Amino acid sequence: MHSRLAVDFFYIANNCCLAGLQNQLSKSFPSLLIMIKTYGMGKNSNKIAWFACYVICCSLISFSFTNPRYEEPVPYPEGYRGWTHIKTAVVEPGNPAFNHFGGFHHIYANKQAMEGYKTGYFAAGSIIVFDVLEAIDTNKLLLEGKRRQIDVMVKDSIRYALTGGWGFEEFHGDSKTERTVTTTAVTACYSCHSNKKTLVFSQWRP
Ligand code: HEC
Repeated sequence: MHSRLAVDFFYIANNCCLAGLQNQLSKSFPSLLIMIKTYGMGKNSNKIAWFACYVICCSLISFSFTNPRYEEPVPYPEGYRGWTHIKTAVVEPGNPAFNHFGGFHHIYANKQAMEGYKTGYFAAGSIIVFDVLEAIDTNKLLLEGKRRQIDVMVKDSIRYALTGGWGFEEFHGDSKTERTVTTTAVTACYSCHSNKKTLVFSQWRP
């Protein structure tokens, strides 16, 4: 567990720092060039060295303020009902997951996630939605009832590095804003999903 945390931490630090620093330095690079042109390389190499230090320090400071939080909230998956339907299942009373997941669940994947289902590699931007609806038995005909919640997974290896590169979220009922997953629940989602190498349980059937 600890070594895994350490690896994850190293991964985030590495990715965030490299990406952010590159960005900051590339922004300050033009002013460095102008400075070199203005003072000339030979005469004022000391000044230039100091200025380079100054630019790097400023970059580091401004980077530490502007660096986005890696565990950003998972956005509501607008339009997912128009995505590819992967599968449906019914969780019946008596199943240990019934309290939270009882009823129908339909799984939907966006384009990138579809590629992932087919190739086994889920690229950044893959989104999968687990749509949970009540199941109502009318004369041995199971019909969909109200929506209970949607569970969402979004692939972004930098933002969600702590949970295996996938962000996890749950939206209550039909709400697009009422989030029910807390920080610890995210770990709960992940601890179960991490039983799969890709973190994705369901499979594509043609
Ligand atoms: C105890 C294990 C377990 C936990 C905890 C769990 N899931 Fe799942 N999840 C599954 C299984 C198993 C499936 C596949 C269901 C199927 O094939 O019908 C699944 C499917 C999904 C899917 C569709 C993609 C896939 O992996 O097949 C999403 C999205 C999802 N879960 C999100 C969540 C979120 C968000 C949480 C936390 C609130 C969560 N899950 C907690 C076991 C779990």
